Amino acid sequence: MPNRLNEKVAVVTGIGSGMGRAAALLFAAEGAQVVGCDLNEENSRTTVAEIIASGGSAVSLQPCNPSEPDEALALIDLAYRSYGQVDVLYNNAASVHFAPIEDMSIEMWRATMRGELDIVFNLCKAAWPYLRQRGGSIINCGSVSGKMAYEVLPAIAHSAGKGGVIAMTRQLAAEGGKYGIRANSISPGLVRTGATARRIDDPDWFAPMKRKLMLNGQVGTPEDVAYCALYLASNEAKWVTGADFAVDGGTTAW
Ligand SMILES: NC(=O)c1ccc[n+]([C@@H]2O[C@H](COP(=O)([O-])OP(=O)(O)OC[C@H]3O[C@@H](n4cnc5c(N)ncnc54)[C@H](O)[C@@H]3O)[C@@H](O)[C@H]2O)c1
Repeated sequence: MPNRLNEKVAVVTGIGSGMGRAAALLFAAEGAQVVGCDLNEENSRTTVAEIIASGGSAVSLQPCNPSEPDEALALIDLAYRSYGQVDVLYNNAASVHFAPIEDMSIEMWRATMRGELDIVFNLCKAAWPYLRQRGGSIINCGSVSGKMAYEVLPAIAHSAGKGGVIAMTRQLAAEGGKYGIRANSISPGLVRTGATARRIDDPDWFAPMKRKLMLNGQVGTPEDVAYCALYLASNEAKWVTGADFAVDGGTTAW
């Protein structure tokens, strides 16, 4: 089923690595015009170059940190100037500090709130006037950590951030429905990316995580999550809003 995102302009954050990169490539392969950003200039440009080399269309802003309101506005402005509209906003990127409460400073806590909550708020606010014009799809990246605790992940700030993202998504759906704006979150389980590879390769850390993965202990791939995002971005999901999608190898059902 090619071209599932034909004629859609999709803003994707964090395209330089992991799930953002996978989504940018998949969205472009399905016909979307992709507008990406990342803190990492080289990786961001590499993803755009790959899309263009495969015949797709993409532009990007880097370094860009939409945790700052001005940078969120600049990214949405790039989408409008390049392609004239915004149909999909995939809030994938997040920056986080992991530490148990005893070692979590207020600075680390606040940086995590900026990196997980402000970034979503700023981009939804910046994109809202464009999404209102003809409806659209907001996809926020939640996490298993927004719904349950892991034995080996010191996620006091991260769990608050992702729990907040899942809650914000419901409210965005409630406020956006009358404009045809859908809002959903995807809550991945443990996915092998640049953020997690080192931990997954540590057998002591991975053993309790593996027990939570129903499918023979397999971790996810960035593409496993990107396919869910593709569905939510497409018109196939036109009656789907206010939902959180577990893409977690059964972790939250265990
Ligand atoms: N990997 C997992 O197991 C897992 C599980 C659940 C949720 N998540 C969430 O998935 C999302 C993507 O994570 P990933 O594992 O693909 O990470 P990753 O580190 O592989 O990629 C994230 C990319 O986003 C960029 N980025 C980070 N903060 C940014 C910011 N403030 N502004 C712009 N770019 C920024 C990074 O430079 C990087 O290129 C995050 O929201 C993360 O919390 C990850």
